[in-house]
Amino acid sequence: MTQTGLAGTCRAVIAGVGSALPQRIMTNADMSKVVDTSDEWIVERTGIRARHIAGEGETTRTLGLAAARKALEDAGRVPADVDLIILATSTPDQTFPATATMIQADLGITRGAAFDVQAVCSGFVYALATANAMIRCGQAQCALVIGSETFSRILDWTDRTTCVLFGDGAGAVVLTAEAGSRGIADRGIFSTRIRSDGRYANKLYVDGGPSTTGTVGHLRMEGREVFKHAVVNIASVMEETIAEAGLTPGDIDWFVPHQANRRILEGTARKLGISEDRIVMTLDRHGNTSAASIPLALDVAVKDGRIKRGDLVLMEAMGGGFTWGAVLARY
Ligand code: ACO
Repeated sequence: MTQTGLAGTCRAVIAGVGSALPQRIMTNADMSKVVDTSDEWIVERTGIRARHIAGEGETTRTLGLAAARKALEDAGRVPADVDLIILATSTPDQTFPATATMIQADLGITRGAAFDVQAVCSGFVYALATANAMIRCGQAQCALVIGSETFSRILDWTDRTTCVLFGDGAGAVVLTAEAGSRGIADRGIFSTRIRSDGRYANKLYVDGGPSTTGTVGHLRMEGREVFKHAVVNIASVMEETIAEAGLTPGDIDWFVPHQANRRILEGTARKLGISEDRIVMTLDRHGNTSAASIPLALDVAVKDGRIKRGDLVLMEAMGGGFTWGAVLARY
């Protein structure tokens, strides 16, 4: 990749967005046939009513590719324009190579770089922050940033405390380098924050891996512990990204959070004084799709006309690690 004259003066602009979901929908009623649970419990504790579950032939690669193609079409771009692909996932098709390189090949792209980012549910925020930094320093001109997950394949389907929470899917955005005034009216990403604290690794993890058990493993979580940290951590990075841009929470047009749990989303929005009608919530139909949840929600709100060009959008996430982060952008 080469440095360009735009380096240092450009913004990474969200030029297009797309998403893809597995065909099969699994409702809470379907879930109650698998584990001892009920629609009432799941809705009351989480807000989730249904999720999509990948079937045969549907993988992180195929879902990510479908979302990427839609995002490129939405941006009016072709694969040959792309010089960077970052895929956020914790459920890659294989241990290696990176699933991003598989999607690169599927799109017929032979230039630039493609790699995966692993920050669990915060993966899309990490990937956006990375692509933004690479665009701003002139290392990329047109990036595909994808979040794609098939968490159904790492769930313990006998553990009702975790399997009811997650779903599969993918979302993607095209980020392009655009010259701008660097003023607050410009479109593009204004500020990003990514954080982690590995002391909490055992609160949310997968109990397998290539270097330890030689197996893929299953997701394990202390839900209450995650909950306890979520609102505090998320609110702090949201405040920092807003302040860095010289704005206030009242300036935010749309809050597009990682779709973990309705109570976490509403608690965070309340802490910052963001009204409920500004929250994009899709977890009722998608469940928690980890790194895919933000671009999936963004795509829904763009396509249904809520988020319009020029709107100020705040995205945030927290996940295993713990990792957390936020991105503030004018869409
Ligand atoms: N159906 C019915 N009952 C259940 C289920 C279920 N699916 N799961 C647990 N229960 C029972 C428990 O066994 C327990 O029963 P008991 O009182 O007889 O022992 C009771 O419900 C309460 O269990 P808690 O775990 O205390 O329930 P809580 O109110 O904490 O809700 C939840 C659990 C929804 C997981 C919550 O802690 C949470 O949302 N935590 C955040 C975790 C999260 O969102 N993780 C996603 C990944 S990280 C991220 O994306 C931020």
